[in-house]
Amino acid sequence: MNEFFQRWNLDPQKLPRHVGIIMDGNGRWATARRLPRVAGHRKGVERVNEITEFAVQCGLQALTLYAFSDENWRRPEEEVSALMSLLRWYLKAERNKILENNIRFRLIGDRGKLSSDILSLATKLEEESSSNSGLNLCVALSYGSRGEILRAVRRVLEKVESGELYPADLDEQTFEENLDTAGLPEVDMVIRTSGERRVSNFLLWQAAYAEYFFESAPWPDFTEEMFATLLRDYSSRERRFGRTPEQVQQRPEGDNKRTNSPARLSSVKGS
Ligand code: FPP
Repeated sequence: MNEFFQRWNLDPQKLPRHVGIIMDGNGRWATARRLPRVAGHRKGVERVNEITEFAVQCGLQALTLYAFSDENWRRPEEEVSALMSLLRWYLKAERNKILENNIRFRLIGDRGKLSSDILSLATKLEEESSSNSGLNLCVALSYGSRGEILRAVRRVLEKVESGELYPADLDEQTFEENLDTAGLPEVDMVIRTSGERRVSNFLLWQAAYAEYFFESAPWPDFTEEMFATLLRDYSSRERRFGRTPEQVQQRPEGDNKRTNSPARLSSVKGS
């Protein structure tokens, strides 16, 4: 085991493949310090960089960060514009580091609502990083899970209309290929900071079998230590995917995939 895993007391075999984070509490962090809310978002970007780097070192396959929800458009114009400026800045400032760290960048969400410059910065980075094979970093922007599912339903209907897909052939896997997260492993772990215990329209389909973790610290105070503690907690949980504890114990290598038929159960190998 390499030094990193030893230092953090992490078992690389028992880590999640895909982690989603609801980065909550930036506003409260700032207000508690009598700072404008945007100061909390700025601090939040520092945490984004730190936690992304940690995820790279852990060898996670994917990290999805909830940066701006569909509902966040309802915030005061000043805050929306400050958040968009920060995202614009992030896409420019972090480009080189993303490419150097073999990270594959992806934007998920309703692209139609984004300004053309943010969209073109993000699209360029997606293209430039498309052959990277390390961490898949997804930034959820103008994102809402229900909206994403509806977009996927529309894509499926278009394929049915054009004769590319027969309705009878539509299964979970085919449907997933039409989500913004197509090709990524399903979400194993969702973290929400700042003490709220809500899902807030985040990766509803992808996190159907995820383990949830609610951290009381606000996102600007979320440290590598806290992340490592939650990852250790994750590693100790028994994920049964509908099976009995006895069945799980009989398969010590683990079956890290959900499955809904006994036939598939015996053929799916753990990853
Ligand atoms: C929730 O805190 C946080 C947001 C709505 C924005 C999150 C954005 C960032 C961390 C920075 C940009 C992200 C990237 C990927 C560069 P809140 O404002 O709702 O906090 P509150 O609940 O305390 O008001």
